[in-house]
Amino acid sequence: MSRLSNSSHSSLSSLAESSAPFSPDTAYSPPTSPSVETFGLAEYYPLDDGKVYVMVIGGLGYIGSHTTLELLKEGYNVIVIDDLSNCFENVLDRIRLLAADHCRSNGIFLPSLRFHELDYKSPAMHRLFATYNARRSIISGVIHFAAFKSVSESIDNPLAYYKNNVGGLVDLLMTVQQNGIKNFVFSSSATVYGSKANEGKPLREQDLVHFDEVTTDEEGNQSVRPNGTLGLTSPYGRTKYFSEAILADMARADPTMRITALRYFNPVGCHPSGLLREDPRQKPTNLFPVIASVIKGSKSTLEIFGSDWETRDGTAVRDFIHVVDLARGHVAALAATNSQSSRTSAFETYNLGTGNGMSVAEVVESFEKASNIKVPAVRAPRRKGDVGSCIAATESAEKNLGFTTARGVDECCRDTWKALNMPIADYC
Ligand code: UD1
Repeated sequence: MSRLSNSSHSSLSSLAESSAPFSPDTAYSPPTSPSVETFGLAEYYPLDDGKVYVMVIGGLGYIGSHTTLELLKEGYNVIVIDDLSNCFENVLDRIRLLAADHCRSNGIFLPSLRFHELDYKSPAMHRLFATYNARRSIISGVIHFAAFKSVSESIDNPLAYYKNNVGGLVDLLMTVQQNGIKNFVFSSSATVYGSKANEGKPLREQDLVHFDEVTTDEEGNQSVRPNGTLGLTSPYGRTKYFSEAILADMARADPTMRITALRYFNPVGCHPSGLLREDPRQKPTNLFPVIASVIKGSKSTLEIFGSDWETRDGTAVRDFIHVVDLARGHVAALAATNSQSSRTSAFETYNLGTGNGMSVAEVVESFEKASNIKVPAVRAPRRKGDVGSCIAATESAEKNLGFTTARGVDECCRDTWKALNMPIADYC
């Protein structure tokens, strides 16, 4: 067993210990040459720092960047892996700036942030883990965000989705296993509930289990909850379902694993500073970025897909969760994977949502209120792969992770509007 596995019990408290107390000598000063560490590893910074790190794969993307920031604020040292295929390198500087600001105003030491520009599927990942493994730095856990996420693109090009989201995950898990890393947090999606969403009831984690579960009711009657899901609506959804099933099998084979799959509902909004936001290289297809491009004028009209759903105004209903709340859900999940006592199983799933549904028409209204700009919209047919309603049951995440959301859709629209008006270039 490798040295990493001996250290993988590292808890939040041991992570915190790796941060020196604040003093003028340890206060943050901007990194000198170079601010970005590429896969030259020790050429720039010695890795032999004896620190415990969390690896965030896809850590400069929309959700990854907000999560990296929240981890740094909580005292975690972070290694970011990103190939920059759907984000920009200057996001790293913005994360550093916001983290430094937080640490300075709270009188705490800024944790380490390392960046390796790397495709997580490349063989260089093995070398990277081996390099850390050979030194005194420890990777205590991995949060994996790097996946393709467009439902429509996955319908047109399914193999690319299976290769990246499923094939890539299997290779990554083998490397994780070879390095004795036990804590793994995976970005899943409410899409795994498939057509169950259309029943109109909040979706509970037990609505999709990966092994049959025997349950006992209040009168002592036993029944079997069968594994699997019905009515997955897209190859994207299937990649998330398969990924969860693979993780569940891995955990079953090795009960010492601590794997958490987080089922996101609809992450929207951005950091209230406007410095972190959804800033994809590819053409956006999700509702918030599309509304943003209409408001900014790069798209003339919003098409509202579907006005004949069985919902209060006929437009689809979603559980929109502010991305900062979502990011904090990852910190809560990581703390739980680090804490032996709160785990009941080697593989756990949690919904990350608010428990409240908003319709597409209501979101448009909220955006108009935040921006004071009319959003030109036309009604269009239902989009392929959509469901009418998708709302989270939140009790399990609240009970087991201590996770609750603090922000509503109006804040999501307000923060997105602020970011749209932010001259980002001035800050980087
Ligand atoms: C889906 C997945 C979600 C996943 C996300 C990744 C389901 C139920 N949800 O979210 O788990 O994280 O993809 O991309 O499968 N809309 C318009 N006009 C537009 C864009 C969107 O009307 O121009 C509508 C959609 O038809 C939908 C709603 O807005 O009804 C939300 O769409 P979107 O933001 O794309 O997210 P989902 O498809 O719900």
